Amino acid sequence: MIELKNKNVIITGGSRGIGPVIAESLIINGANVAISARSESALQNVAGHLSKTGSKVLTVAVDLNIQSQRELLVDSVLKEFGTIDILINNAGLETEGAYAELPWTAIQETVEVNLLAPMALTRLILPLMLMNKSGHIINIASIAAKSGAPYAAVYSGTKAGLAEWTRGLRLELAGTGVRFSTIFPGYVTEVGMFARFGKKSPWIIGSCSPNQVAKAVLNVIQKRKIEIIVNSRPLRYSFIINELSPKLGDWLMHISKAVDFQRRKIGK
Ligand SMILES: NC(=O)c1ccc[n+]([C@@H]2O[C@H](COP(=O)([O-])OP(=O)(O)OC[C@H]3O[C@@H](n4cnc5c(N)ncnc54)[C@H](OP(=O)(O)O)[C@@H]3O)[C@@H](O)[C@H]2O)c1
Repeated sequence: MIELKNKNVIITGGSRGIGPVIAESLIINGANVAISARSESALQNVAGHLSKTGSKVLTVAVDLNIQSQRELLVDSVLKEFGTIDILINNAGLETEGAYAELPWTAIQETVEVNLLAPMALTRLILPLMLMNKSGHIINIASIAAKSGAPYAAVYSGTKAGLAEWTRGLRLELAGTGVRFSTIFPGYVTEVGMFARFGKKSPWIIGSCSPNQVAKAVLNVIQKRKIEIIVNSRPLRYSFIINELSPKLGDWLMHISKAVDFQRRKIGK
């Protein structure tokens, strides 16, 4: 099992939702953690809670939409920690709505945060990891990467892109010592973008807790897993159906009321 003690980790989206839960589980296992997001005050709140554990906690307030701020994040962490062992691309935006009605700026922002920012941060850190012959990039995708979600099609597209980009890099850089993993959470209860919606998810989709997502992150690090779907239902079978027969997969989404659920989620 790989030790987390004294490993230096960056986690984006560390100000609220799932990010702080992941950060806490890493710190409990001895890692030093840099949490990042735009809101300095929210980061300080989270850090105040995390610092009680003894590991180093750094906060870096940046907007991941802006390349110079992505560079600032990496530079600040290197200055404080000396090196970076693990990058967890967790920050994300769920832009929902009828696609034809979405403002172009909302579409652009979603692609920037969910896909381009992980690509950019990885590009900034990868040369160091390759030089060290060690490192781990962990990307938080979604089950929406496996089955396109209606009224969240842009979100799905970014998450599918994130997952396949990760796989491509994993294959390209096998044997270099740098690892790449993807986590696919389902609807997360208690905290985060789905919990704020305040409704129960459809039976076919089920849900998961933020602690289960944090455990999956620990598992990809410590047990060298490459992909984990975190969900209460055996959704992988429906993903196999999608691959074998997209028509049957679409039909299942309609009869299970998953499409209606997504429509109601945006108030239509
Ligand atoms: N919650 C779920 O049900 C669920 C399910 C599947 C996958 N996921 C994925 O899990 C990850 C975390 O989701 P969550 O539910 O915890 O989300 P959340 O509660 O909405 O938190 C999003 C985080 O991203 C940060 N962020 C957003 N835009 C940013 C920007 N431009 N620059 C820097 N930071 C930014 C936010 O901080 P600031 O606003 O302060 O910047 C916040 O810390 C996301 O990638 C999401 O897609 C979530």
